[in-house]
Amino acid sequence: MFSPVPMPPHENRVAFPTECTPPGHTHALHPTVTETPVITTSGLTKIYRSHRSRGREVTALDGVDLHVREGEVYGVIGQSGAGKSSLIRCVNLLERPTAGTVTVAGQDLTALAGRGPRASRELRQARSRIGMVFQHFNLLSSRTVQDNVELPLEILGRSGRQRSAKALELLDLVGLADKARAYPAQLSGGQKQRVGIARALAGDPKVLLSDEATSALDPETTRSILQLLRDLNRQLGLTVLLITHEMDVVKSVCDSAALMANGRIVESGTVSELLATPGSELASALFPVGGEATGDDRTVVDVTFHGEAATQPVISQLSRTYNIDISILGAAIDTVGGLQVGRMRIELPGRYEDNVVPIGFLREQGLQIDVVGQEPASVLVKEGAK
Ligand SMILES: Nc1ncnc2c1ncn2[C@@H]1O[C@H](COP(=O)(O)OP(=O)(O)O)[C@@H](O)[C@H]1O
Ligand SMILES: [Mg+2]
Repeated sequence: MFSPVPMPPHENRVAFPTECTPPGHTHALHPTVTETPVITTSGLTKIYRSHRSRGREVTALDGVDLHVREGEVYGVIGQSGAGKSSLIRCVNLLERPTAGTVTVAGQDLTALAGRGPRASRELRQARSRIGMVFQHFNLLSSRTVQDNVELPLEILGRSGRQRSAKALELLDLVGLADKARAYPAQLSGGQKQRVGIARALAGDPKVLLSDEATSALDPETTRSILQLLRDLNRQLGLTVLLITHEMDVVKSVCDSAALMANGRIVESGTVSELLATPGSELASALFPVGGEATGDDRTVVDVTFHGEAATQPVISQLSRTYNIDISILGAAIDTVGGLQVGRMRIELPGRYEDNVVPIGFLREQGLQIDVVGQEPASVLVKEGAK
């Protein structure tokens, strides 16, 4: 369990893979989240005109305004081609945006000169405070685990002794103290990603960017890597921006999330804000509840409640007051982003027009009501593994 007070460095070790959110924990945001913006993009636009797009212009980012607060885990989700990788590559200026600005930890990175390998000293320095974790780990196979972690410190010009002390400390932090002398080929996928994470932390970054860090891993390893990212977030106060196409990833670790489609952010907010937004596509994907209408002349309604609220008395009251039979099509209670949420899908006899009054009654009880089939068309279609 984590205490909100800073721990002495020697205790700064991550325990895993134990669950660290206590059951019934109702705070959407944990104590390390502050209101200070740490990553802000404004009007971020990226148009590719390269051989890869065969002379065509591809608008990968179309005016993205992103606001990530200090200490949070922020998930960006979307289908393949939505622009997620372009966003993350523009945030650390690996890719120079066509228009718009990127501010990380108070510094306007877009104002710094250079790009890619020709980045200026200022840009390179700013970038060393942004850790990056990749889907395919990007480890050097000819180097030991320890030497891989030391690589960014070599680039920063640290002495051999400083490098090795830091690398060993980080390997301990990610649970690989005994693998320092191993080579990447001797490690499992999960262990390789732990090395990737240790390397990303070498420059003591304030921000960690992760592009599909778990997409190449099996579900169990995915869970332990996500747990590690969340533990690092909590213990080091590290802000994490992670890109994924898997809703489960957002569900298990994120404090906030954004949904991208066609180079734009179409929905965003804290997980609790999203869950409280009627018709939010992210919310219904984060917390799906099944059940189909049993006929055409039926109205299906999703009732969402948070924390301690219970729907049972309200449903029987509704039934008595309006003398209608209510069927429960599905119900679930789950923890989403550390927040306990319940959802019940009920069916009322008659079409929507016949049920305006009972639906109004439910809303008056302070419950969040979504009438199924009244929302805009979905942009979040589950994509296959890449
Ligand atoms: N280097 C590039 N050159 C040309 N087009 C690119 C390049 N990188 C990405 N794209 C295009 O930009 C769009 C967004 O891609 P990307 O950011 O990789 O999306 P995602 O990570 O969400 O799958 C896609 O249409 C993709 O083909
Ligand atoms: Mg991508």
